[in-house]
Amino acid sequence: MSTLILKGTLISAPAPGKLDILEGGYLAVEDGCVEGVYPRLPERYQNAPLEDFGRCLILQSFTDLHLHAPQYPMLGTGMNLPLLEWLSACTYPAEARFADAEYARTVSRALARELIENGTTRVCMFSSLHRPATLILMEELERAGVTGFVGKVNMDRNGSPDLQETTEESRRETLAWLDQSKAFPHIRPILTPRFTPSCTDELLRFLGKLALERNLPVQSHLSENTGELQWVRTLHPECARYWETYDEYGLWTDRTAMAHCVWSDAAERQAMIRAGVTAVHCPASNRNLCSGVAPVRVMLSEGVKVALGTDIAGGDSVHMFDAVADAVRASKDRRILDGWKTEALSVAEAWYLGTSAGASFFGDAPGFVPGQRLHAMAVDDSRLPPSPHPLSAAERFERCVYRRQSGAIRAVWSDGRKVFSRSPD
Ligand code: GUN
Ligand code: FE
Repeated sequence: MSTLILKGTLISAPAPGKLDILEGGYLAVEDGCVEGVYPRLPERYQNAPLEDFGRCLILQSFTDLHLHAPQYPMLGTGMNLPLLEWLSACTYPAEARFADAEYARTVSRALARELIENGTTRVCMFSSLHRPATLILMEELERAGVTGFVGKVNMDRNGSPDLQETTEESRRETLAWLDQSKAFPHIRPILTPRFTPSCTDELLRFLGKLALERNLPVQSHLSENTGELQWVRTLHPECARYWETYDEYGLWTDRTAMAHCVWSDAAERQAMIRAGVTAVHCPASNRNLCSGVAPVRVMLSEGVKVALGTDIAGGDSVHMFDAVADAVRASKDRRILDGWKTEALSVAEAWYLGTSAGASFFGDAPGFVPGQRLHAMAVDDSRLPPSPHPLSAAERFERCVYRRQSGAIRAVWSDGRKVFSRSPD
């Protein structure tokens, strides 16, 4: 058995709004799994290899439950348009470039590196509709140590001349991609109808059947923007609500992640609760594309499962520290819009959404729980300016969220393996 002990200020999120904090604590890892968290090193581990991170914070690593790999090269550009115009003018041309395998490899490799170096070890990611590029993306994520789900996008209507498949192509390529995806141990396939306006009923029916037959998870977009809602109503007069277009075809289950849900009304939220669908909140994207401010506090208090995503390149940052801080900011915008009737999220709550809540989509319990594969990072906050008073561990944690620093992450573990380390300057 291989044993490893990590020493540092251990902070984990075992429940929404709650942090377990242990300064100078020991995290014991056996064969890549968390064995326990201890204030003093147990006798049986006295001779085990120990990595001492001193005053560094040892935190759960991030789960980014919604991002688009082929949009990575567009980061920080084209932010002047609302969703539907942005898709046609910026996004589809950028995604069409994934037809070029060499380009897809360069982009995928750079993205995978940036994710790992910034502590994101689990993802739910959209590729493009191209099968070869999707396999290359999976290969590069696997190589870098990222784990989770990647989907070949399905879109057989309302695309652009160079970014659309026929229904038959979509079916055929999806089946071939699923066969070829078996090669990857840590990156698994997720069915990915882009969103209702991009998929014919026939394609949605095929994907729903496939999800059921092969027990596959599903990701898509839902109720992001008012123009989109109106379009869906015109396309599907038979469905009273947007979510019914997914439910009708078997794409609405407890293995479904729906990005945004900004405009989900009470009935849609109840439908999410009943089915166990996860809403993926993407605050930066919602602001950049002027989509709206998602009612996350209401969703949480009603019992909707909520996790966080960067939604690059609607979102402008790959870094989940930013997504956590943005989720707090968005909840304050919402509080203002709601006439101060809803509470803002605390940093601890938003952190939970970006770590433990996302982990549950992969079947993991919240926090550093014995028996679970280690997903963690060590963060060095010593280069931040001196504070006016000695900071508690909770204050240091809060400051790390708001003042993300490049290079602060000293080490990252993904699925029990150390996948990144940087020596202190
Ligand atoms: N809805 C359909 N496709 C997309 C996309 O690529 N990004 C966002 N933010 N919303 C979408
Ligand atoms: Fe998206």
